[in-house]
Amino acid sequence: MKNLTPYQAYEELIKLSRRLSYISAALSLSGWDEQTYIPLQGFKHRAEFKAILSEYLYDEWTKDYVGDLIEKAKEGDLDDIQKMNLYWWEKSYKENKKIPKELLIRHVQTSTIAYQVWKEAREKNDFELFKPYLKEIVEILREKAHILGYKNEPYDALVDKYEAEMTAQEIAKIFEKLKSETLRLLNRIGSSNKDFKRYLLNGKFDKDKQREFCKFLLEKIGFDFNRGRLDETIHPFAIRILPSDVRITTRFYEDNIIASIFGTLHEMGHAFYEIGLKEEYFGMPVGNSVSLGIHESQSRFWENFIGRSLAFWELFYDDLKRFFPYFESVKLEHFYLAINEIKPSFIRVEADELTYNLHIILRFELERDVINGKLNVDDLKDAWNDKFEKLFGIRPKNDNEGILQDVHWSSEMGYFPTYTLGNLNAAQFFYKMNKDLGNIYTYVRKGDFRTIYNWLKGNIYEKGSLYKPQELVEKVTGERTNPKYLVNYLENKIEELLSIE
Ligand code: CO
Repeated sequence: MKNLTPYQAYEELIKLSRRLSYISAALSLSGWDEQTYIPLQGFKHRAEFKAILSEYLYDEWTKDYVGDLIEKAKEGDLDDIQKMNLYWWEKSYKENKKIPKELLIRHVQTSTIAYQVWKEAREKNDFELFKPYLKEIVEILREKAHILGYKNEPYDALVDKYEAEMTAQEIAKIFEKLKSETLRLLNRIGSSNKDFKRYLLNGKFDKDKQREFCKFLLEKIGFDFNRGRLDETIHPFAIRILPSDVRITTRFYEDNIIASIFGTLHEMGHAFYEIGLKEEYFGMPVGNSVSLGIHESQSRFWENFIGRSLAFWELFYDDLKRFFPYFESVKLEHFYLAINEIKPSFIRVEADELTYNLHIILRFELERDVINGKLNVDDLKDAWNDKFEKLFGIRPKNDNEGILQDVHWSSEMGYFPTYTLGNLNAAQFFYKMNKDLGNIYTYVRKGDFRTIYNWLKGNIYEKGSLYKPQELVEKVTGERTNPKYLVNYLENKIEELLSIE
C-alpha cells in the first residue's frame, strides 16, 4: 500500500470492483434460476453456494486495505466519474465496517425464519403468530439505525439504504400533500358515481395466448430478446445478470388478462433501465442503477403512463381483439375505463394508480413511528386498521387483507416509500419529456417507442449512479421530487375517464 499513488490506488479499486461485480453476477444468475427452473433437489446445496459467495464478497469489500485505497485515491485530482465512484465505494465501505458481523448474521437468520413464519401466519390468517418475529426484526433494524447514524431520526438511516441522502422529513412533506390531494380526487370520483366496470373484463383467457400477446407487445415496444428473456414466476421480477442479459418474469391468470399485461409492462420498464445502463461503466458503482425510487419510476412509467393510456390501446386494441376475440364486443373506451378503474380496496398490489399511494403512505407513517420508537409492534395492527379506515373509508376484516399482506416486514423497513417516490418521479419525468419532445401520446399512437426510450436512455438510464437520486431528478427536471406533477396527471386523467359515457 505504502508506495501507491492516488491514481494507482483508484485503479486498484476499479480492478477489485470489476472482479467482484462478476462474482455478484453469479449470485444474480442463481437468484433467477431459483425462481424459475431449478430442480427441487438443486436447492440442497444452493444455500451454501450462496453463503460462500456472499461471505467472500463481504470479506473482500471490508478489508482494511480497501479503506486505505479509498483514502489514498481521494488525495488525487479526480474527475466527476471518479469522484462518484469513490463516493459510493466509501459509503458502502463505511456502512459495512460499522455494522458488526454478528448483527448482520442475526438479521439474515431472523429474516429467514420470519419469512417462513409470515407464510404460515398468512395461511392461518393470524398476525399473532408473526408478531414476535416482527418485534425482533424491528429491534434489529433499530439497532442498525443507531449504529449507522442518521440526520434527524432513526428511520432516516433505513431510508438512506434505498434513496441515498433522502430524509423521512422530506418524504413526509411530499406525502402529506399527495395524501390530501388524493383524498380530494377520491371524493370527486365517489360523488360522480362512475361505474368503471360496466363492461367487466371477466372472460376466460388462455394462458398460452396471454404469453404470446405479452411477447408480441414486448417486441413491438422494442424489448430485445437477444439480450433478455421473459419467463413465468409466482412473483414477477426483473433482473440484470450482466450487461446485455436482462431477464423479466410475469404471471398469467386465466380469469385476469389485465394482471399479465401490466405486470409484463412493469417489469419491462425495470429491464429497460438495466439494459440502458452504460456498458463501459459496468463493474463501477456509477454503472449501476441509482435507487429504488428511480427504478420504480421506470417501471411505472411504462406500465401506467404509457400502458394505461388511451393512445397505447388505440394502437394495440385491434391486436388484442385478434388474440382475444372476447374483446370484439367491448368498445375501446370501455376497455380503457375498465383498466383504469379507481376504487378503494384492501390489497396494495391490486390497487389502482390513485389509491395505490394511500397504501404506501399508510405503511410509511406506521413504520416510521415504529422505528422511531413512537409505536409498539403490539399496537401496530390496531394502528393499521384505524389508519386504513380513516384513509379508505373501509376497515380490514382480517389480517390477510390488512397487516399481513406484504412480505417486506419479514426483513426490512424503509423500502415502502420508494414505490410512491417511483410514481411521483415517473410523473415528473413524463412532464419533462412532453415538454422536450411534444405530446408523447403522438409517438405512442404511431408505435414510435424508440423516441421515448432514447429520451429515457439519455436522461436517466445512461446516467447510472453519476448523481444521487434527488440530484438526478433535479438534473433532469429542474427540481427535486414534487408531488404536483403526479397530482396534475391524475386529475387530468380522472376528468377524462369521468367524461366517458
Ligand atoms: Co417494480
